[in-house]
Amino acid sequence: MDAVAVEVSPPGGIEPDTLALPFSTDDSGLPSNGARQLDGGFEARLRRLADGGELKGELGKTVVLHADEDSSVRRVVIAGVGKRAELDADAMRTAASAVVRRVADVGGTLAWLLDESLPLSLEEQARAIVEGTMLGSYSPGRWKTEGQPEKPVEKIVLWAADAGGLEEKARQVAVVGRWVNTARDLANSPPNELTPETLAERATELAGANLKVDVLDPGQIDELGMGALAAVGRASSNGPRLIVLRYDPPHATRTDLVLGLVGKAITFDAGGISLKPALKMQDMKGDMAGGAAVIAATAAVAELQLPVQIVTVVAAAENLVSGDSFRPGDILRAANGKTIEITNTDAEGRLVLADALWYARREGATHLLDLATLTGAMELALGDFYAGLFANDEDWLQEILDAAKASGDHTWPFPLHPRYRRYVDSTFADLKNSSDLRQGSPVLAAEFLREFAGEGPWAHIDMAGPGFLERSRGDYLTQRGGTGYGVRLIVELCNRLA
Ligand code: BES
Ligand code: MN
Ligand code: ZN
Repeated sequence: MDAVAVEVSPPGGIEPDTLALPFSTDDSGLPSNGARQLDGGFEARLRRLADGGELKGELGKTVVLHADEDSSVRRVVIAGVGKRAELDADAMRTAASAVVRRVADVGGTLAWLLDESLPLSLEEQARAIVEGTMLGSYSPGRWKTEGQPEKPVEKIVLWAADAGGLEEKARQVAVVGRWVNTARDLANSPPNELTPETLAERATELAGANLKVDVLDPGQIDELGMGALAAVGRASSNGPRLIVLRYDPPHATRTDLVLGLVGKAITFDAGGISLKPALKMQDMKGDMAGGAAVIAATAAVAELQLPVQIVTVVAAAENLVSGDSFRPGDILRAANGKTIEITNTDAEGRLVLADALWYARREGATHLLDLATLTGAMELALGDFYAGLFANDEDWLQEILDAAKASGDHTWPFPLHPRYRRYVDSTFADLKNSSDLRQGSPVLAAEFLREFAGEGPWAHIDMAGPGFLERSRGDYLTQRGGTGYGVRLIVELCNRLA
């Protein structure tokens, strides 16, 4: 779904192609409040379905009903939302996703009856419905030659007695939802199409007039002494790029704060000389999901004109194998002057981030947040739902945790501790890029990054799990591939910083 119009109107205000009604398991056997407001014989039909056990209100289940010819609402989807007591924003997103997938053959205008009796505020319902609809209807099959047969939902109408500020909020959510799906498109793009160079071109297009864009080519990367980024990108004929976006709002609320967003954008991670196994290597096209998220989020913040100054730095490279590859045993010098012994060329994310973090500080970032699909062990630990969060500052950690929780991009705190530093002590250089002990890999990666994050608050999100899905998550993210993880989190963070 590209763009979708969002409106708020009193129930019955328009004649939608479909009306969605939330229905919880606790409603079973009773006609829902919503049905009572409808003509067309819905109430009796609902009662029969409930009595017959065909309508239970289970989360993500839908039942479609058609009305008599003369009814103002012709089609109703009863959207299961599960147990009332367990209803949260994720459940509502899941219900909205199930509904939009159910009406894929119909499209047009989809109305949702907001329900004051649910334990979510009307605003939370509105947000979750718009998000669930937009994220749930995303299709990753853009490269299929047969066009998509589905009819898109063009307009979401939220039926609420009292619109009070709801429409503006819901429209903002629709803007963010569009950028989340843009980040997914980037992550799903095949690595033959999306190289560091073409990612930089895409970022420039997406930035439009709202952002200033600078793209540093391999020559400029070398000149600045970014030996880590340069080494990772060297084996590929698609050379590395440092993509820099700047957003300067006319009236920043906090003049003392420049948010530095840093993203890992390995457009394909073969592992280099420390080659990965073949199984699922194709998913390593998604190793630029952190970079995609910070690009899309910056564009979203600019489109919404949030009053937060941002500098976004994306380290883009392709980690391949060739006669010019960097090697285990090489010692690199990063832009901040530290020397790094390479012990595994597949631990490339921390290398490119090292130089990008340094650059973001150089450009004046006071508060850093980096997003990266950094370690397989993070996915082993937390699966596809939570990302891991590390920070060198308690307040900054809490700020990000709060934003994450409110946004739906779930994040769980992990520790940093100087006692982990010995794992990446090197005999020859200042530090090494991986430990050969199979222990604490996400923490060691974060400890490594800390050395390049400079002075001031810094946080790191390892989104290896939720950034790129191997299969449906069973909620509103039902598609394999990129999820746009991080876009909603960053926009929410900026709303809170403003
Ligand atoms: N991009 C990978 C991490 C990854 C793996 C993300 C699976 C998503 C799914 C990263 O560059 C990597 O290869 N990390 C290594 C580090 C190790 C060599 C220290 C890993 O986690 O195995
Ligand atoms: Mn790797
Ligand atoms: Zn990687």
